[in-house]
Amino acid sequence: MRVLVTGCNGQVGHCLVQQLTGNVELLAVDRAGLDITNQGEVEALVSRFKPNFIVNAAAYTAVDKAEEGEVLAYAVNCDGPKFLAESAASIDATLLHISTDYVFSGNKDGLYSEDDVTGPLGVYGKSKLAGELAIAEKTDKYIILRTAWVFGEHGHNFVKTMIRLSKERETLNIVGDQFGGPTYAGDISSALISIMNQLLMHTDASRYGIYNFSGVPHVSWCEFAEVIFREAEKNGLLEAPDVTAITTDMYPTPAVRPANSKMNCSKIESAFNIKPSDWRFALKNINKYV
Ligand SMILES: NC(=O)c1ccc[n+]([C@@H]2O[C@H](COP(=O)([O-])OP(=O)(O)OC[C@H]3O[C@@H](n4cnc5c(N)ncnc54)[C@H](OP(=O)(O)O)[C@@H]3O)[C@@H](O)[C@H]2O)c1
Repeated sequence: MRVLVTGCNGQVGHCLVQQLTGNVELLAVDRAGLDITNQGEVEALVSRFKPNFIVNAAAYTAVDKAEEGEVLAYAVNCDGPKFLAESAASIDATLLHISTDYVFSGNKDGLYSEDDVTGPLGVYGKSKLAGELAIAEKTDKYIILRTAWVFGEHGHNFVKTMIRLSKERETLNIVGDQFGGPTYAGDISSALISIMNQLLMHTDASRYGIYNFSGVPHVSWCEFAEVIFREAEKNGLLEAPDVTAITTDMYPTPAVRPANSKMNCSKIESAFNIKPSDWRFALKNINKYV
């Protein structure tokens, strides 16, 4: 199996590099190695390396900054995936891409399924949705994994922010009316690798498409933070602060976020036998997040 991973220094990219061992010819590139917004560079690298799979872990993920940085957000989240899809199609490779719960408005009661109507609220979500559509226009051989609330030992994320803030403050106000499934970057990487292995064994056109994959149990940001503090305290990292749940309107941000990011992950389980992961296990090693 020959795998090209883009954005290898991100949270998920880093885990892919750690996990893609064994019988794999891996080319992992960071932004300096391949800027996915540069069509010529993408075409040249893909035609030179000729991977069976391209995993796009590169993205513009600064949700608030995207509100002022629309051009760059679309370049990275839409044009880049489009160029990768075109290049993948030209050598009959499969593209695996990661998308987001932010393609939805969050106004639905209950869990989001893959075929629910999209309705992103901000530039980041709109640019990610545009990327999904661009991929589907350029190739049939794609897997898009929609995930949510990503955290890992490597890179910037909510877990690290909470640990840092709790060392600076004794009380914290945290949003308690947005709900979702925190997802460990290592579990996203494992899911992608499992999909590649299964596609290698059994290619069936009906398996391509969009899949939800996020962690369980579903919680609010505030509930997520409380588990983080409990684990960190248990591991002697900090003394848990007093936490107050606040409403979204009490914590205004440039980008509006979906109130409901809870996803139904039964499709990926039926197609690939991949179960949603319990994010609480990934916090058992909380010392590694400091
Ligand atoms: N983080 C979340 O909570 C979350 C939630 C739902 C979905 N997702 C999706 O999950 C995927 C992985 O997210 P993540 O948290 O691992 O992201 P991340 O940590 O922000 O990593 C993204 C990587 O992409 C690189 N990159 C940016 N522009 C690039 C370009 N033009 N060419 C090549 N590389 C470029 C970045 O490099 P630099 O560091 O040099 O900028 C960074 O290493 C993304 O598709 C994201 O949209 C994330």
